[in-house]
Amino acid sequence: MSSPAPSLRPTLVRGEGVHVWDRDGRRYLDAISGSFSVQLGYGRADLARALTEAASRLAYARPSRFESEESEAYAEEILLAAGPPYTRAIFTTSGSEAVDAALKAAYRYQSARGHPGRTGVAHLRGHFHGATLGALRVTDVRARRAPYELLLGGAPPPIDPEAGPLEEAMGDSGALLAETIPAAGLGAPVPRPGFLAEIRRACDARDALWIADEVLTGFGRVGSLFAWKRLTERGEDRGARPDIIAFGKGAGGGYAPIGGVLFAERVASVLDSAPGGAFSHAQTYGGHAIACAVGRHVLAVMREENIESRVREKEKALREALSALSAHPHVLDVRGLGFLWGVLLRKDRRTGEPFPRELRIAERVEAACRDRGLLVFSGSGSHDGNLGDHLLVGPPLVSDTHHFPQIAIGIRESLDAVMRDTSPPGPSRG
Ligand SMILES: Cc1ncc(COP(=O)(O)O)c(C=O)c1O
Repeated sequence: MSSPAPSLRPTLVRGEGVHVWDRDGRRYLDAISGSFSVQLGYGRADLARALTEAASRLAYARPSRFESEESEAYAEEILLAAGPPYTRAIFTTSGSEAVDAALKAAYRYQSARGHPGRTGVAHLRGHFHGATLGALRVTDVRARRAPYELLLGGAPPPIDPEAGPLEEAMGDSGALLAETIPAAGLGAPVPRPGFLAEIRRACDARDALWIADEVLTGFGRVGSLFAWKRLTERGEDRGARPDIIAFGKGAGGGYAPIGGVLFAERVASVLDSAPGGAFSHAQTYGGHAIACAVGRHVLAVMREENIESRVREKEKALREALSALSAHPHVLDVRGLGFLWGVLLRKDRRTGEPFPRELRIAERVEAACRDRGLLVFSGSGSHDGNLGDHLLVGPPLVSDTHHFPQIAIGIRESLDAVMRDTSPPGPSRG
């Protein structure tokens, strides 16, 4: 199917490092790593080689009946990288499917333990979990849900974690699903110290499973394999570990569609012996051998090229470059961690008043950036779930520090251009 509005969607033909080129020869600095997925940059011969070598050995192994050498090895390697208590991995082809698989697994876990009625999944205000119906049911980003609201009926409302104790709000939910750093819907606010420990305590008190959605925040994005690992280096959160981790995006470095779910041993052992048969989530292309080969190579490069420490070394430079935007009269906040940053755009930064949604300021700034050869992500909802424009910035993890001021300048110029377009004309003269 051809795209609905070809003129609005340039056709990309080539990539190299942190840049992509469209068919007309225009170059873009990709400050969102494709879709927070091209962690290691474009044009990598090593990744292309990993892919073609795997393809030339074995194209396919039916996931419900076989392992492939690649899927077996990838499971071992990713579990090793994640560390204890994770002992089981299953693979999907996307982040949304990973979230769906995690939700199904949490339900099977509760059923197996004698609680089939615990179907509810607590989820948080403004968090985004994907496009499939299962993930959308527990997503609180109005623009994504609105066209399907009637199909999603019955899901419990999102919890506002600042409104009171999580434990009370969770009720009888069998699981709590949360983005570790909520990006698409909220613009990357880093949770306050102690918040992950609070999730852990609330889930333990309720005998519920904590599912960490690390689809966007994983694979070095914030200087660790998963964002929860980095955040639990903070004293207040130390020791808080999720029961289930959903991942995707960066796992394939943009070279192959791979996502998956990791289970802590205590969850895996229940799922293995669940009445009605061990938990499985087989899909034709889930854990595809070629995608797993790419996943393995991404993990190897992260290790060999010290990607996590490089992100940590450079995050200050990215923060400083983007923080220059804080002085802009329409920027309320610049926040984030590692190579994931949010820029909050507001009509009035002093009062925090958002722009009217119909002005579509974030989308227009994104388009203006693109016209200037810079790719950023636009979102809304960071004020009240609907209003509140924001941008996300998440460059490839191999970016050089000299790219960062270019990103900040591109955003500032684009914002100024959009504001000039939207400001009412001055009094006519003459
Ligand atoms: C936090 C989070 N979870 C899940 C998803 C869904 O992943 P995918 O687009 O690969 O289905 C996304 C995608 O943006 C995401 O940001």
